Amino acid sequence: MIADEWLGTHEIETAEAMERLGHGIGERLVAGDLIVLTGPLGAGKTTFTRGLAEGLGVRGPIQSPTFVIARTHPSLTGGAPLVHADAYRVGDAMELDDLDIDVDASVVVMEWGRGKVEGLRETWWDIEIERPTGGRGADTMCGDLSRSAEELDADAPRVVTITRAP
Ligand SMILES: Nc1ncnc2c1ncn2[C@@H]1O[C@H](COP(=O)(O)OP(=O)(O)OP(=O)(O)O)[C@@H](O)[C@H]1O
Ligand SMILES: [Mg+2]
Repeated sequence: MIADEWLGTHEIETAEAMERLGHGIGERLVAGDLIVLTGPLGAGKTTFTRGLAEGLGVRGPIQSPTFVIARTHPSLTGGAPLVHADAYRVGDAMELDDLDIDVDASVVVMEWGRGKVEGLRETWWDIEIERPTGGRGADTMCGDLSRSAEELDADAPRVVTITRAP
């Protein structure tokens, strides 16, 4: 489980720091733990989950769950497997149910799971990764797309907010 000391807002300066955060959290997770991960394109969701997977001790590689809705990474240490899922294209809680994820026996990281995981477990952790607002973030909606993509890759601090839900 995620200890109380992780709760709150963390400024994460680099991709390496994001991976370390995931690693530290992953070390403490056990079967039944559910994490809902939210953040825009290029925010660092996969980077975070890669660290988490290492800390947990499951087989990689961790990829963005773009084509497969849920991928299971078996444990390398006899512990819980990691189910890395993308709820983006899942319609609602009923459809999520159809995926038949064994939440009791797994650690589940559900990207874009807000509003959909209710019913999977009584409590979970909500982790949001944001690029700080202000500066150039605001013009990505109407700006030139290739420039936006480049900026998203730039080494820039992220703000990670961890809360216990609901
Ligand atoms: N502070 C930071 N935290 C996390 N990633 C960072 C940071 N600074 C730069 N990066 C870079 O940003 C990119 C984040 O990519 P990543 O694939 O983890 O994002 P994502 O949220 O999974 O995106 P997608 O929605 O496309 O799957 C990486 O190239 C990483 O090196
Ligand atoms: Mg990703």
